Amino acid sequence: MEAILLVGGKGTRLRPLTLSTPKPLLPMAGVPLLEHQLIRARDAGVRRIVFATSYRASMFAEAFGDGHRLGLEIIYVTEDEPLGTAGAIRNASSALTCEGDAPVLILNGDILSGHDIAAQITAHEKAAAAVTLHLTLVDDARRYGSVPTAPDGRVLAFVEKSANPPTNQVNAGCYVFRRSVIDEIPTGRPVSAEYETFPGLLAAGEPIIGHVEAAYWLDVGTPAAFVRGARDLALGAMPSSVVTTHEHGVLLLAGASVEPSAQVGGGTTVGARARVGAAAQVESSVLFDEAVVEPGAHVVRSVIGRGARVCTGAVLEDAVIGDGATVGAGNELIGGARVWPGIDLPATAVRFSADV
Ligand code: GDD
Ligand code: MG
Repeated sequence: MEAILLVGGKGTRLRPLTLSTPKPLLPMAGVPLLEHQLIRARDAGVRRIVFATSYRASMFAEAFGDGHRLGLEIIYVTEDEPLGTAGAIRNASSALTCEGDAPVLILNGDILSGHDIAAQITAHEKAAAAVTLHLTLVDDARRYGSVPTAPDGRVLAFVEKSANPPTNQVNAGCYVFRRSVIDEIPTGRPVSAEYETFPGLLAAGEPIIGHVEAAYWLDVGTPAAFVRGARDLALGAMPSSVVTTHEHGVLLLAGASVEPSAQVGGGTTVGARARVGAAAQVESSVLFDEAVVEPGAHVVRSVIGRGARVCTGAVLEDAVIGDGATVGAGNELIGGARVWPGIDLPATAVRFSADV
């Protein structure tokens, strides 16, 4: 079976981490975020995947090559200008080999999901649907596509990012399309699946089916979600065959070092060759490769970029530190503060808060 992976977004809500790396390639439990989904797709029977790229396109081929490492055949199709989600699907379909009624799996590139992809494909084929959407329940549907369904599973409406969503049942970003339905998407201009294609298919009376599954699901679109996803992989709440080395809920990657007097927990990932100094406290955080947390620093629910340094006694809560930045001794960064790559905050014991 063939699939298309949507990975052309700029990931603006995750800046500064996404300035140099596209969101789907950010490291998550030691591998690029999207690798967890690639493996699940492969295990559900997908053999060929077309990556629909745009932002920093060449980095995907550098990370995955022809796919043989993962037992997949990966092809790259790049948009010069972003074509939107459905425009990207149509554009990437030029590299598909299947035809007619064949099912094509479409994946958003920023999702961690434990749902049963094979069961979704089976439901699609059984219903002879034009499109089958994985749907999941969330507490607040305003950031998502809200998708009410009839008791028989038929989708009644698709309402993207509305202040008044009709239901908390939302589009989970994994679709099965009938190949011939992809061929009907217009070419040569941006097209949104969420604002144009799905509402259009519904208006035309095409059968769109919801596959509701309450498995683990997370859109890794914000720093808070990034921290949560990494924590859930480290703690095993999100199952992934890639994650094998967790010890007491802490993921130590190759060459990571933690001083015995440091307290590290709550699903923290300590990246390759990263270091945590004596009496430091690190909780539910992600240290990218070669990051350094010096003695006595406190780091909670934060992301420390590649090679970044948190100096002695600094306090970080819900902070994002860009690659190579330095947070000088004694600084306090709380409430979502973000430090751009390469910045050096001097040791002035200043309190930076994104709340004020
Ligand atoms: N190739 C390409 N070109 N990919 C794109 C483009 C584009 O122009 N625009 C977005 N993408 C990719 C992103 O890289 C991402 O993997 C995926 O499409 C979804 O984009 P997001 O920017 O993450 O969208 P969202 O999270 O706000 O909303 C979408 O996902 C929600 C579930 O997580 C929508 O599909 C919602 O309906 C859905 O609920
Ligand atoms: Mg998203």
